[in-house]
Amino acid sequence: MPKHPYSEIESHQPGLIGYQIHYFEEVESTQNIARNLAAEGAPHGTAVIAETQSAGRGRMGRGWHSPPGVNLYTTIILRPRLAMAEVPRLSLVAGVAAAEALEEVAPGIVALKWPNDVWLNGRKAGGIIAEAVTDRAQRLDSVLLGIGLNLNLAEDDVPGEIRERAISVLIATGHRCDRVAVANSLFTRLNIRYDEIVTRGFAAVRPAWERYSGLTGKRVTVVDAGTREEGMVKGIDTDGALLLETSSGIRRIIAGDVTLEGAYS
Ligand code: BTN
Repeated sequence: MPKHPYSEIESHQPGLIGYQIHYFEEVESTQNIARNLAAEGAPHGTAVIAETQSAGRGRMGRGWHSPPGVNLYTTIILRPRLAMAEVPRLSLVAGVAAAEALEEVAPGIVALKWPNDVWLNGRKAGGIIAEAVTDRAQRLDSVLLGIGLNLNLAEDDVPGEIRERAISVLIATGHRCDRVAVANSLFTRLNIRYDEIVTRGFAAVRPAWERYSGLTGKRVTVVDAGTREEGMVKGIDTDGALLLETSSGIRRIIAGDVTLEGAYS
């Protein structure tokens, strides 16, 4: 594979994230490239990184703002020995790894917003999407773990419609960070956390997630497929579900969009 800025962090070790890194100047979405690579049999840990995406995608059919040369846009191909039900928990695990990586460049202001937003100072700096690929028998073949981190994005380059709720490391700290170093840290942390979920289950990762939880103890509204729940966040359970204390008792929320009272979603 030709040399590129991220060549130096390729692990070249089968089984490790970042085993091979496929680097592109511009793609529609790193998720699409990863899907093709996975179909061709790319091994676990293969990563795709792009400088810019013309059609970056977020959760729930939303887009992901992907200007060139400033942020990290990556998709990692995982080939987990896990059941389909574990896939959403992989994105929680990735959230912990992303929070840990950002902590190194933006200490003390990192938080996680369930299910998979990464916050700096209560605004969104990162997002995670986990797309499952199944085989003909509908068994889990691979997971395309997409991670977008706003690193050196300047305030003026944030589109008006997301300006009040988006942030980057540069905006939050006033300092640019080394994108290759952040990617390296992300992959290293993800290796550790992935190993934990595979060998010991999500319960092993949950305390780390809880330490970063920006919602615990806060009042929120959760909207999912037309339903709406309000309550106080108590944390997450060992399955990764959000625990919400409502007027009718504790509810387990397994999917939805969370809005913090008095804040932007
Ligand atoms: C979200 O918060 O809605 C998830 C955003 C995920 C964005 C990343 S950027 C790299 C990868 N490629 C995509 O098209 N999306 C993910």
